[in-house]
Amino acid sequence: MNRSTKTRYVIFQILVEIFKKNKNFETAFNKYIIGRGFNQKDISFINNVCLNTMRRSMHCKLILKKFTKSGLNTNQCILLSSAIVQIVYLKIKPYAVVNETVNVAKKVKIFPGFVNALLKNVLNNLNEISKIEIKLLDFPEWFVKQIKNKKNFEIDKFIKTFCEQPSLHLVFKSEKYLTNFKEPHTKSSKYSAFVETHKKVSDIDNFEKGEWWVQDFASMLPLAFNSKTKNLSILDMCAAPGGKAFQILSNNKAVLNDINIKRISKLKTNLSRLKFKPKIMNLNGLDFDECHKFDMIILDAPCSSIGTIRRHPEIFFKSKEPDFGALNQLQKNLLEKSSKLLKTKGKIVYMVCSFFYSETIDIVESFLKKNRNFSIERYSPNKQFYDLKYLISKEGYFLTLPTKYKNFNIDGFFAVQLIRND
Ligand SMILES: C[S@@+](CC[C@H](N)C(=O)[O-])C[C@H]1O[C@@H](n2cnc3c(N)ncnc32)[C@H](O)[C@@H]1O
Repeated sequence: MNRSTKTRYVIFQILVEIFKKNKNFETAFNKYIIGRGFNQKDISFINNVCLNTMRRSMHCKLILKKFTKSGLNTNQCILLSSAIVQIVYLKIKPYAVVNETVNVAKKVKIFPGFVNALLKNVLNNLNEISKIEIKLLDFPEWFVKQIKNKKNFEIDKFIKTFCEQPSLHLVFKSEKYLTNFKEPHTKSSKYSAFVETHKKVSDIDNFEKGEWWVQDFASMLPLAFNSKTKNLSILDMCAAPGGKAFQILSNNKAVLNDINIKRISKLKTNLSRLKFKPKIMNLNGLDFDECHKFDMIILDAPCSSIGTIRRHPEIFFKSKEPDFGALNQLQKNLLEKSSKLLKTKGKIVYMVCSFFYSETIDIVESFLKKNRNFSIERYSPNKQFYDLKYLISKEGYFLTLPTKYKNFNIDGFFAVQLIRND
């Protein structure tokens, strides 16, 4: 198999693995890339085509429907979608895409004549196809159901931006490191910035020195708003791979915990680069000893991750929906447990990278109903974040949607501060 065919074949394998086995992109990608002798250019190409095929999967379904009378099977649909994405959205030379896709079709026993004819048809109607737009009802049913009762959800804005590339945002350990930072950037605060670069993250200025980490702008804000954490005993219950923990560790001590040993290993690598040395635990948060109490608990709970859809487009692409029953129960249990580990006047920061009601306000409201000794402490952003007050509701919830901040793409994120009053 020549190099070009091999890269397309691997793209097909990765996408099939994600769809059929419900795997995360990173896991499937590593499985088919590591040790296969691809160079950096091939790897970037495979990464780019896979991510964009998942981002455009709903567009591709509409396009394929236009050109086929009977339904396609999963393999046909995946192979053709990845070819359509290369031609229509990534503007790769159509001649090469058609040839290589036909070669892969032969290998995976999809009728090559059919693939060839369909892609030629796409090429003949390129202008019309590139204008195809999706609507709410083209999204998976579970998504439509989750946002059904969501007030102020600007679906048109969401549809326009969810399939774009995420922006790269860095958070610095302190202001002085951002002042000395050499790459072109746009400041988002005194110690954070959006960076426009095609470099690998590890090639960006001062990566090795551990002066900054990658963290989305929206997910930085809840802890950035609240700078009064000096001398508090702090537990980060679900800490890996570490963004929120690094924010805390830049000014304070903290205990970091996570249930997942692989993610703890990533956390340790990050901590070592950033030269932080906190205490690390590897417990199920629900098993924490309630004799030891903290002043502050960061609960960045496991969730559907829908707010990170640009970085994790597999959420819409996978054949299975997120298990909302199990996630919502775990979110409730971890919040309840955190309340038992908190000192009087202590604070829980409950956060999720989600904007679904079921993972955000619903969890908080049912917790507050049961725990009358807790109340919401409204965020009051310090001076440098005054202009972001509009992100806080009258009830005190912080919420962003995965749309735009200025010219940059940001994640959807939710946070609330819960105070124990007795
Ligand atoms: C949203 S991620 C945390 C992200 C992290 N706070 C950050 O800023 O990089 C949720 C984490 O919760 C962990 N987790 C899931 N269930 C848990 C449990 N029962 N106890 C402790 N951690 C858990 C997962 O392994 C995952 O790393």
